[in-house]
Amino acid sequence: MRFKGCIFDLDGVIVDTASHHFVAWKKLSEELGVSFDEQDNEQLKGVSRVDSLEFILRKGNLVLDSNTKLRLMDKKNAHYLGLADQIQPSDALPGIVDLMDELKEAGVRIGLGSSSKNAEQILEKLNLISAFDAIVDGNHLTLSKPDPEVFLKGALALGVEPADCLVIEDARAGVEAGITGGFRVLGVGNADELNQAHAVVPGFGELNWNEIQNLLLHK
Ligand code: BG6
Ligand code: MG
Repeated sequence: MRFKGCIFDLDGVIVDTASHHFVAWKKLSEELGVSFDEQDNEQLKGVSRVDSLEFILRKGNLVLDSNTKLRLMDKKNAHYLGLADQIQPSDALPGIVDLMDELKEAGVRIGLGSSSKNAEQILEKLNLISAFDAIVDGNHLTLSKPDPEVFLKGALALGVEPADCLVIEDARAGVEAGITGGFRVLGVGNADELNQAHAVVPGFGELNWNEIQNLLLHK
């Protein structure tokens, strides 16, 4: 099989902003008196800002009015953007830019499928906006991953069928979204955490596009 499209998640796939989201959610949680560890964070990877806050509030049995929730989300976002402010083109994760160049060369359409409302801002810092044929992010969505809306909208914008399109994800919720949407899914990261994916790689440093396609051929 040869893919006609490839949709990348952003945070944790293209750049290590996943760690900044973790730090910012942890600080907010602690200010609210709610404990927040790596395991909690795994469940929030790929999940929208509002659903992430709701997770933390549920964990702490806290009920807040909507103005307070908005204020807390703004606070977390300001902290996150402060941490992400230094991002520059050299921060794209190893192998990502080469992989995108190969995809372009091979005529594969390239999409972004991110839950983040900050996605374009981050891509601009990486100087990668123009690498994408379509960008779908948190500003275009009504449902958060694990709902497949983000990837289905992405495939539509690329003009490819989900079955002909690869999704690349570092989050459980994102892998589930891709599978539910009928995509082939490549996980990046921990194979146990991402065990629903068709294949999992630790990163892209060592892999070219042909090798990636071969990994998924018989899955
Ligand atoms: C996802 C991240 O890509 O975007 C989550 O994995 C994050 O950690 C979510 O909460 C929403 O991001 P933002 O930038 O809109 O707050
Ligand atoms: Mg991610």
